[in-house]
Amino acid sequence: MGKIQVGNITDIDILGSRTIQIDDIEVAVFRLSDGTVKAVENRCPHKGGKLSEGMVCGSSVHCPLHDWKIDLNSGEVHKPDDGCITTYLTEVDETNGSIYITL
Ligand code: FES
Repeated sequence: MGKIQVGNITDIDILGSRTIQIDDIEVAVFRLSDGTVKAVENRCPHKGGKLSEGMVCGSSVHCPLHDWKIDLNSGEVHKPDDGCITTYLTEVDETNGSIYITL
């Protein structure tokens, strides 16, 4: 599907998130405390919690339903839990703040 613009860096507060529906994929876009932007599938591998409603801590998000911790870089669930979500490559255009993800 290629590279898609999904908003602007000014749309997302630090430690906040936005969701974008792209066809049948719901993507959660997070802004971490260091300002970097991460995009992942908005569905916890445990029971489908909306990760966009979870708390960001470092480079992980805590699922709002049962507190699984998921690494936003790798998509891996932190042990002792087990699972993985899809992550998407993100880019921010430094000239205008546009955020792009690659599907
Ligand atoms: S649905 Fe995410 S931890 Fe249970």
